[in-house]
Parts: sequence; C-alpha cells; structure tokens
Amino acid sequence: MQGVILMYRYAIIGFGGLGKLHLMNLLRLEQERKGDISLCAICGADKESVLSNVKLNLGTVDISSVDFSKCGFYEDYKELIEKEKPDFILSTLPTYLHEEVAIYALSKGIHVFSEKPMALTVDGCDRMIENARKTQRKLMIGQSMRFSAPYAKLKEYVLNKTYGKVRRLEFCRYSQTPTWTWNNWILDPKLSGGCVVDMHIHDVDLINWLFGKPKAVFSVGTENKLELESVITQYVYDDMLVTGSADWSMPQQFPFTAKYIINFENATAVIADKKFLLYTDEEVIDVPLDDENNHYMEIKAFVEMIIDSKECNNITTVESVRDSVSIALAEIESMRCGKMVFIK
Ligand SMILES: NC(=O)c1ccc[n+]([C@@H]2O[C@H](COP(=O)([O-])OP(=O)(O)OC[C@H]3O[C@@H](n4cnc5c(N)ncnc54)[C@H](O)[C@@H]3O)[C@@H](O)[C@H]2O)c1
Repeated sequence: MQGVILMYRYAIIGFGGLGKLHLMNLLRLEQERKGDISLCAICGADKESVLSNVKLNLGTVDISSVDFSKCGFYEDYKELIEKEKPDFILSTLPTYLHEEVAIYALSKGIHVFSEKPMALTVDGCDRMIENARKTQRKLMIGQSMRFSAPYAKLKEYVLNKTYGKVRRLEFCRYSQTPTWTWNNWILDPKLSGGCVVDMHIHDVDLINWLFGKPKAVFSVGTENKLELESVITQYVYDDMLVTGSADWSMPQQFPFTAKYIINFENATAVIADKKFLLYTDEEVIDVPLDDENNHYMEIKAFVEMIIDSKECNNITTVESVRDSVSIALAEIESMRCGKMVFIK
C-alpha cells in the first residue's frame, strides 16, 4: 500500500512560455497550500533558453525572482523522471511530444498535467486516455479557457437558459504570427497542427464544452504566408448557427484579439477583452466576473484533484478534450477536401 505523501514533488518538463507561466502559478499555490507541493526539477532542451524570460502573446513571463538553487535541471526527461521520481509533472513541451511524455510518465506512476492540444492525432489522445486508465493516474489537459470566468458564465447561461436558447454564436481569434517558440517548432504544422490545432482549438474546445460535438463541420482557410495559417468554419448543430474563425498570420503589431458574439433568444452577449456585456432592448449589463486568471484556476484544480481528491469532471474530462481534437482535425480535412466532414 502506498504511504501518505506529506509533500508532493513536481517537475516541469518543457520550460518555455507555458512552463514558466505555470511555474509562477504553482509557486503561488505552494505558498497558499503551506508547502505541500514543491518544485524538484525542470527539463528543457538547453539550459540557456530555459532560464531566460520569455515573451508570449499573453505577455512576458518574468521568472527573474525565482530561486532555482534547489531545483534539478535536466535535458532528458526520462533521466529527470528516473532520478527525481516526481509525484506529478507538468508537460509543457512542444505539441509533438505531448503523447510520448504523458504515456512515459503515467507508466512510471506519475500524475500528468499536459498542455493543449492533447495530441496531434485522435489515436494519440486515445492512447493517453487508455494509459491513464490502466495506471490509475490522473491526466488533465490544459484547455485553459474552460477555467476562464467569462466562458464559465456563458456556460451557466447556456445550461440554465437564463436568456433563452442560443440562436447564433460567432467567434474569432487572431494572433500575430507566433515567432517566440523554441526553434520555431510552432510554425511547422507537422509539429504543432498549425493555427487550427494549436490556437483555434481553444474555441473548438469551448463550443464542444458548451454544446457538445457538432454533427459536421465545413471549413475554408488561407495559406498565403504559412501552411494552415487561418480557418473559417461553420459548425452544424440542429437548432442554432455556429461559425468561427482564427488567423495567426497577422502582422507583429496587430493586437491579439479574441471575441464571441452570442445571440440568445432574449439578449445578445459579447465577450471580448475579459469583459462580458449583455445587450437587451432596454439596457446594457456589464456582467460582474471573478477576475482570477484561468491558468491559475486550472493548475489549482489539477493539484486539488491529486492531493484533495476533488474532481473537476463538470469542467473538464480527457474524453471531451479528445473530442475537441477530433473536431479540429475534421476542420483541416474539410479545408483540404472542400466538403462538409461529419464528426464521428
Ligand atoms: N493553454 C494555453 O493557453 C497555451 C498557450 C500557449 C502554448 N500552449 C501550449 O503549450 C505547449 C508549449 O508551448 P510554449 O509556447 O511554451 O513552447 P516553447 O517553445 O516556448 O517551450 C517549449 C520548451 O520545450 C523545451 N523542449 C523542446 N524539446 C524538448 C525535449 N525533447 N526535451 C525537453 N525539453 C524540450 C524547450 O527547451 C522549451 O523550453 C504547446 O503545446 C502549446 O500549444 C498552451
């Protein structure tokens, strides 16, 4: 029988933008939880890039105040796992490594938080799920928008039909071309899935979370500067119209933009710039929101799932996140064949 663990040691594998962002939230959590979690090691492709600050479209993550003196550094994640034996890891590696690393860590009895997108293929997602089931370890995927206050509020309105049913939903997400990743891995669709599987998946995952899988998708896109740089999709649902777009070929000075317009039967909601506005015939309501950041909330939920046995199945499951990958891949298939693609 496994003994009671008094302090859970964790490692961050892949220490670029997202690894650093999560570390800052985990250090906050470490203080809030009075030290029952502790960073033991980090792993990156090379030490120099690992210990410098990094710019993201979310802003710069400043790690200059972090004391790494008690933290091991590795370039080989298997060596880290063998030597440090962490209780849980965060895998914040380039996407093409998500499946391999999650399965390896699970097989060693380690709980895994793995960044989005879950994997580059649906079979890869299924293998991750199967390994988590077999090893009885926790696996959570960082589809962080599910933990974001405006979208949690939207989900509440959709479920409760507070303003009636959704009639139409339209979303967009635009980013400057991402030039900030290690060795520019993100610009190669074979490694990242391109704009569709990497960035647009945030919205695909949200509509999947809000409404379940669409029956089919019809997508078009451009490939002027980069392969799979943009997409426009119609999602086929029975009784509402859902359309969305994404583009990461914008100029470097273009501000990151994400926006939702939702026509309920009795009001129209607009979500943009972390604000949630509701328009009726009589008034405009600025819906009050919890301003906690979604990345902190998801990591907190992951830690509570492991240590406090507090499940968060109402927010996220690996099976539904896998479905989001299948929808995004169907969009690419539709773009390529010029036809509607039905979702299995
Ligand atoms: N949830 C979100 O909002 C969000 C936002 C951005 C990125 N992401 C996801 O996070 C993941 C990481 O993205 P990023 O922007 O941090 O990338 P990044 O390029 O900034 O960081 C990747 C890190 O992995 C390391 N690395 C590469 N190959 C390695 C190997 N074989 N062994 C050990 N380390 C290795 C590099 O040294 C680098 O530190 C991606 O899957 C991305 O899609 C999620």
